[in-house]
Amino acid sequence: MTLSDRLSQLPLPIICAPMFLVSTPKLVIECCKSGVVGSFPALNVRPQEKLDEWITDIKSALDEFKTSNPEQVVAPFAVNQVVHPSNSRLAADQAIIAKHQVPLVITSQGNPSDIVEQVHSWGGQVFHDVIKVSHAKKAISAGVDGLILVTAGAGGHGGTLNPFAFVREVRSFWDGPIILAGGINDGFGIKAAQSLGADMVYMGTRFIATQEAQVDQDYKNMLIKCAIEDIVFSDHFTGVHANYLIPSLERVGINVQDLISKGKVDLDLGNTNFWTDIWSAGHGVGGINDIPSIQELTNKLLADYKTAAML
Ligand SMILES: Cc1cc2nc3c(=O)[nH]c(=O)nc-3n(C[C@H](O)[C@H](O)[C@H](O)COP(=O)(O)O)c2cc1C
Repeated sequence: MTLSDRLSQLPLPIICAPMFLVSTPKLVIECCKSGVVGSFPALNVRPQEKLDEWITDIKSALDEFKTSNPEQVVAPFAVNQVVHPSNSRLAADQAIIAKHQVPLVITSQGNPSDIVEQVHSWGGQVFHDVIKVSHAKKAISAGVDGLILVTAGAGGHGGTLNPFAFVREVRSFWDGPIILAGGINDGFGIKAAQSLGADMVYMGTRFIATQEAQVDQDYKNMLIKCAIEDIVFSDHFTGVHANYLIPSLERVGINVQDLISKGKVDLDLGNTNFWTDIWSAGHGVGGINDIPSIQELTNKLLADYKTAAML
């Protein structure tokens, strides 16, 4: 069965987005078992040599599950590759991805042409992350199979474009798969994305507040307590704009009013580990009120999705 066929048979059109320091084999496996495409950034694997082990573990856990649950739809998994020239591990990680013939490779931050050629050689597909229409056009020229439109309010390095306008403009010149990302955390958002013309959605933040996510419990609790006004979009910490949970900045002594008014803070952040001490989330955080298992979450997403379809 082709990857496109497998994706079209999923109970819900969801990719659990790759998240730096958050995505683990456990999260990926449990997502795939629940019919959600699980993914992880190759850069989460340290040292690099362990990538082989991660992919082997994911494949064998899913094969075992399929054998004992032949009726269950098991989703494919994806690995995210940063294709920017600054990624010194790209070739080594890609060799492991090729060895395992990973079905779906998600590329970000650069030109995916070389990866596209390789992945197509084993019948896999490449979806590329974009935040601008010009990036989408370049990715299409590079031969990608799908476009992930990262819009305003997405967790991590969010975009700035409005999802309504972005999807409609890309749909005017691209017939292939569109995956919409940014603040989507329930079945109503999934249905709305499809109404706009997207084929699938990318959901990141919602999956951090699950039993299986191996992150600090305080991070999960903060997601429950926070709402959209607790998110700030700043390029001060990494040089690239990202959405952060304000209480996680305050925890390490950052004056958020200074950050908002001056765009920077004078505090010496020398000992602060970005992404481990300071936490990211998308605008959808206000809709997160619990920490379910991934199976409970997907059951709820499916129920809401069906309700939304009847509206
Ligand atoms: C904590 C965190 C880490 C992330 N790390 C990455 C990453 O390493 N690579 C990537 O392509 N996207 C990364 N993202 C962005 C997600 O892949 C996705 O675009 C985003 O989570 C979708 O928006 P949502 O969180 O509002 O659902 C990250 C997002 C979060 C919340």
